[in-house]
Amino acid sequence: MGFRPLSAGERFYYVLHPSPTVVIVTKCPNGRYNAMPASWNMPVSEEPPSVAVAIDRESYTFECLESHPEATINVPHSGQADLVYALGSVSGRDVDKVAKYGLKLEESASISVPRWSDAIASIEARVWKKMDVGEVRLYVFEVLGVYVRGDLYTRWGWDLTKTSTLLHGAGRTFYTVGRRLVARKIS
Ligand SMILES: Cc1cc2nc3c(=O)[nH]c(=O)nc-3n(C[C@H](O)[C@H](O)[C@H](O)COP(=O)(O)O)c2cc1C
Repeated sequence: MGFRPLSAGERFYYVLHPSPTVVIVTKCPNGRYNAMPASWNMPVSEEPPSVAVAIDRESYTFECLESHPEATINVPHSGQADLVYALGSVSGRDVDKVAKYGLKLEESASISVPRWSDAIASIEARVWKKMDVGEVRLYVFEVLGVYVRGDLYTRWGWDLTKTSTLLHGAGRTFYTVGRRLVARKIS
């Protein structure tokens, strides 16, 4: 069987999913903090360290980032799928998600937006560059500090025998990271 073209009703981006999900915490014009999941994210450069996230301009997070251009980019684990889905299903414009979902926050070292204490990693970041693309604003954040759960992280990254990052498939479907493969050495 060869390729078939996607039909008009199919979402093109599912060919690039499942995608690692982060929870973006921002400081909002109402003085409160807000949290939204984002699976359209990627590391961009090492020097300086930077991360890009595509944020819908209709989201409250967009409004919060425009008023306060700092965020923590928090990495949830696979046991938090229900919570992450819930955070992505309501807007901070209508609901105080931090209060409603009892999100535990802690002070960051380099910015005034807090980290999410129950994440397995938290990146402190400041907006560096931005570009409008279609309905989103693509934010490139400069990474100012990175904090990991020391019992789960090794010099090669996550110890997947102990935890898994959360990959977003489609709708309410998420995946955990599966088998570890090590590619053959180039001779
Ligand atoms: C797993 C998951 C991943 C998501 N990824 C993104 C994303 O990368 N960019 C985006 O703009 N919205 C994304 N969304 C949708 C937002 O999280 C959702 O619109 C949210 O309610 C916005 O919250 P806010 O208005 O409080 O900012 C995602 C939702 C889920 C459940």
